[in-house]
Amino acid sequence: MRTKIVAGNWKMNLNREESIELVNAISAELKHLELGNNRVMVFPPSINIEAAQNSKSRDARVEVGAQNMHQANGGAFTGEISASMLIGANVKTVILGHSERREYFNETDSLLKEKVDQALENNLEVVFCFGEKLEERNAKSHFDVVERQLKKALFHLTEAQWANIILAYEPVWAIGTGMTATPEQAQEMHAFIRNTIGSAFNDKLAGAVSILYGGSVKPNNAEEIFGKPDVDGGLIGGASLNASDFSAIIKAM
Ligand code: 13P
Repeated sequence: MRTKIVAGNWKMNLNREESIELVNAISAELKHLELGNNRVMVFPPSINIEAAQNSKSRDARVEVGAQNMHQANGGAFTGEISASMLIGANVKTVILGHSERREYFNETDSLLKEKVDQALENNLEVVFCFGEKLEERNAKSHFDVVERQLKKALFHLTEAQWANIILAYEPVWAIGTGMTATPEQAQEMHAFIRNTIGSAFNDKLAGAVSILYGGSVKPNNAEEIFGKPDVDGGLIGGASLNASDFSAIIKAM
């Protein structure tokens, strides 16, 4: 069975104290919850990863990951953070390809391929984000866009490397807009993604990869979206900043 995951992308929010408070509050909410094989992750800004990670009241099941990393081993890249630095901070998982990185920091498919390779070489697990813009959906090119994003950054990987890939389909028009994809739209795209991977690799691999949905997931819509057969959980922005909302979403997984 595929692993279900609810992950909170905190983006550029919360200072050190607030990060510790939130991770503790989420831990308190999860206290009596049986998670089984399901996973919970939070992704604070890099500077607060260790504070969240080291908080004594953190439930060990609340994994702490990173939102981004640079593609190089190291060197003259002012302001950047490498894969080995993340490993040094006990990070196991890194988000790559978020639409905000693609849009505001010019991250292209080929750059993301380099980042994915660098992360996997350093034994990091990758939450790879992708998804179409509104104009692409309106032009009915959303399947082509998604296929291209996957192919260019991930289809050179070996089967063994795919074990460390988690996918997050995040239609750009649904991010932070309150305009979530319908459960049917999410399922349609997730099934397409799984079929595309199945054709490029094989059905066993495609059946094993977790595909999260992201874009305005809230406590009142999570259960319906997560109930779809190819949706394996969610990557949550705004609602992950509130412990009770985020916990309600975790409970819907
Ligand atoms: P929202 O949940 O705020 O729409 O953000 C989704 C997202 O971008 C998660 O990475």
